[in-house]
Amino acid sequence: MSQTIPQTTVTLDHPVDFARWRSATRALVGQHVPPEDIAWHVAPSGTPDTPAPAQAAPPFRIPRETMQMAADVLQSMLPDRFTLAYHLIYAHVTGTAMPPPDLARIEDAADTVRAETAHLRHDLFTLMQRGDGQEAWHATMAATTYAPESNARFMTFQLSLAPWRLALPGRRMEWTGEKLLYGQDDAAPAPIAFGSLPPPAMPLVTDLDIPRITVLPAVALAARTCRICPMARHATQTVFGEGRSDARMMFVGEQPGDKEDRAGRPFVGPAGQLFDRALLEAGIERDDTYVTNTVKHFKFRPRGTRRIHEKAGPEEIANCAPWLAAERRIIRPHVLVMLGATAASALLGRHVTIGRERSRAITLEDGATGVVTVHPSFLLRVPDDAARAREYDRFVADLKLAASLRAPVAP
Ligand code: URA
Repeated sequence: MSQTIPQTTVTLDHPVDFARWRSATRALVGQHVPPEDIAWHVAPSGTPDTPAPAQAAPPFRIPRETMQMAADVLQSMLPDRFTLAYHLIYAHVTGTAMPPPDLARIEDAADTVRAETAHLRHDLFTLMQRGDGQEAWHATMAATTYAPESNARFMTFQLSLAPWRLALPGRRMEWTGEKLLYGQDDAAPAPIAFGSLPPPAMPLVTDLDIPRITVLPAVALAARTCRICPMARHATQTVFGEGRSDARMMFVGEQPGDKEDRAGRPFVGPAGQLFDRALLEAGIERDDTYVTNTVKHFKFRPRGTRRIHEKAGPEEIANCAPWLAAERRIIRPHVLVMLGATAASALLGRHVTIGRERSRAITLEDGATGVVTVHPSFLLRVPDDAARAREYDRFVADLKLAASLRAPVAP
């Protein structure tokens, strides 16, 4: 049997470099490059970053479960895991079948990764005194997969952002409180991005997240020290939610804008002013509610002296998910109003099209009622006066619907 010689080489920065694998996969599957034409390499530890593969505009959607299956197999130690994961996506997009033995290997690998993830979700760490006299969490794990790497963010939140160190066979990982460091064999640990790692085989957000914090000001304080996300370094400050901690209505937007970033408060800029007006018309007192965002930092691109809003992506949403989960856990609102697609997709855990899902009561997994509506900044962008007035009235009607779903106040 003749062997194909791979024509394309992709170099990944570390053995669990999901981000680079995914962008290369999107570009190459988009061109229908077959799996056997690609050679995957991992750069030796400590090598400077290789340029990112060209990112093609994604012309296709990958179902969340398929991408998660690929992420799971990438956490195995199978030598051909990059090819297997690529083949999974390639088969989905081209409508071809994967060889059954390969599928069976993927399923076995994913089972092992899930089992190891479940194991490391239990208390792994003990508090130890470091050489400098400071305390830090330490653990050693005889992992047979890369599940510990993909759970770095989970562990950081589980330990309430305190420094931790994890020794693994042939490698080690450390969160300093500022940076995630990773080193293989004897190489000095180097910073890696949380966002480069695969999504863990179990959801990041569980009841355990930010586990010891039960009051909102303490969650806000912790969120202000969070450095998990590079956005934290560029934004002026964390913009946490504000309002009543016993509010029956909670509003969730996308992310703070320029004004909110400077003021440190949600919805105080142009979209916030429109929101306030609509609330008033719907008979809702903002002071009786809780108003927050899916993502707590302003994401922007500098243009001259201006800061141009950039849409928050899945990475930022995942980074901030534990903060939003903690706000929900503490407030327990009866009605959760999702302002725009980012909030709706993050809270419903699936892709949401506003036109299809707005203006109706949705039962959420915690028993609260969800209402999806447009984001107020959408109303600011409608160019035509008559259309804008119509859209505004629909928005107010959605707010009225949400208000009608609040449980009656006890006499
Ligand atoms: N847009 C949002 O989603 N949130 C804000 O706080 C401001 C504008």
